[in-house]
Amino acid sequence: MARSKIALIGAGNIGGTLAHLAAAKELGDVVLFDVVEGVPQGKALDLAQCGPVEGFDSALKGTNDYADIAGANVIIVTAGVARKPGMSRDDLLGINLKVMKAVGEGIKANAPDAFVICITNPLDAMVWALREFSGLPHNKVVGMAGVLDSARFRHFLADEFKVSVKDVTAFVLGGHGDTMVPVVEYSTVAGIPIPDLIKMGWSTKERIDAIVARTRSGGGEIVGLLKTGSAFYAPATSGIEMAEAYLKDKKRVLPCAVNLSGEYGVSDLYVGVPCVIGAGGVEKIVEIELTAEAKANFQVSVDAVKELLTACKAIDPTLA
Ligand code: APR
Repeated sequence: MARSKIALIGAGNIGGTLAHLAAAKELGDVVLFDVVEGVPQGKALDLAQCGPVEGFDSALKGTNDYADIAGANVIIVTAGVARKPGMSRDDLLGINLKVMKAVGEGIKANAPDAFVICITNPLDAMVWALREFSGLPHNKVVGMAGVLDSARFRHFLADEFKVSVKDVTAFVLGGHGDTMVPVVEYSTVAGIPIPDLIKMGWSTKERIDAIVARTRSGGGEIVGLLKTGSAFYAPATSGIEMAEAYLKDKKRVLPCAVNLSGEYGVSDLYVGVPCVIGAGGVEKIVEIELTAEAKANFQVSVDAVKELLTACKAIDPTLA
């Protein structure tokens, strides 16, 4: 059977890490695309030279030509710029919207059957715009945010409870970052919900609230430390988890930014909810009864995404 093909649009920090993980896990052959000449070719060659040491046979190719993504099974998009000091939200939106237009058209023309995972920020707006520009079915275009947000939450919770991260599950909803909604009632240690763990004296509500706040600003904390860039290891491994779920038809239940059509009372909007990812792309959206508090927080998140979409439509009237 032919190997799968994974195309990575954007060969920056996340793109390079995605390429390494995809090759090391032998998920398939990897094509790294970027608009900057030399960078994807250089990274692909450097990574290919890991093969003999790490023992992988995945082929890696760097390119500046969209024709090379033809036939890709999975496409992961990290193309764009990060917000720099002095840049307004609308400046960033304007720049990355143009990038999503070019990427969406490149995908539509060359790999319309791919499963597309968007990582570019502001995530919930960019994944929506990428879907609009590419014209792919909604179940084949998803955004990576919840896996990363819940990984951050799980890491902090495992640290708080002094247990293995493996035994900590987290349930998050909503937009990426500031407005994400961790649902503590559904977040557990080996099946024991956090409120029960608080009753058992493992932590306090105040400490859990502080962890939730730290998780929400998890990206910003890393930018503050790195100063010249943003997080890339955990975003990349989170994207790979979603790609693997699709390629191996694993039916993973993962929080992803997906298009809602009535679920949670929301329509025509991408926002983070748990869903089943398998060979059919987004196979099912998991809709649970929310507590009044989670419902209110989710609405704040949805309103923030709506505002971003309004700004996108004002910048590019073809989206209206
Ligand atoms: N087409 C393809 N690649 C592009 C385009 C474009 N139109 N415009 C920019 N790029 C490339 C840049 O040349 C760069 O190599 O996108 C890459 C972005 O890489 P980095 O700046 O290193 O950013 P990274 O840390 O990888 O993050 C990428 O993901 O989490 C988000 O906020 C983050 O939006 C950012 C994205």
